[in-house]
Amino acid sequence: MPPFLKGKVIFFVTSNIHKFNEARRILREYKISTAMLKNVDAVEVQDDDIENVAKANAIDAVRKCKLSIVVEDTGLFIKALKDFPGPYSSFVHRTIGNDGILRLMENITDRSARFKSIVAFLDPLIAKPFCFTGEAQGKIIKEKRGSREFGFDPIFVPSNSTETFAEMSIEEKNQHSHRALAFRKFAKWYSQISGLQKS
Ligand code: IMP
Repeated sequence: MPPFLKGKVIFFVTSNIHKFNEARRILREYKISTAMLKNVDAVEVQDDDIENVAKANAIDAVRKCKLSIVVEDTGLFIKALKDFPGPYSSFVHRTIGNDGILRLMENITDRSARFKSIVAFLDPLIAKPFCFTGEAQGKIIKEKRGSREFGFDPIFVPSNSTETFAEMSIEEKNQHSHRALAFRKFAKWYSQISGLQKS
């Protein structure tokens, strides 16, 4: 086993409890111990590529807390809006919100969209972050639905479903979501190199 992995808890550096609750369930399936690490003052990285954002955040977090960590960055890419808001998803959600997105799409018939998530793992003893990607294809519906108020969940229906992410339980969302896919890839890789067995 690589020395940097032995018996370690992985800290998910995030202040978003929704993200943590989704990821924790996936990691638990692989017997990977995880904890949420809030209040690590992250650098404000802006880049056209969310992988660069995740990598920069991982490097910054390890520099500050010197622990084995993962960070995760997500973007919503809407086809008819030429992949907007993409890397600007956080700003757009904070400013115009879901209502603003629905207004931008009022007369648009192609409602295709996708979420992309990058999970970046880093440890003080390794040089560069390892990144894992997950995507969820789907569409933007015309009115918000669902009570799980997390980001764009009330306006996004993944392919092969009729429910928005906000109408699903965490377990259901984890069967479709970008984040679940990226964390599963990470968990498989981590289990392989650390010798953990999936339950
Ligand atoms: P970030 O990864 O925290 O930068 O997320 C960018 C934006 O996308 C924020 O406004 C989040 O609320 C939103 N977001 C992130 N993940 C999800 C998700 O799984 N569903 C819906 N919105 C999300």
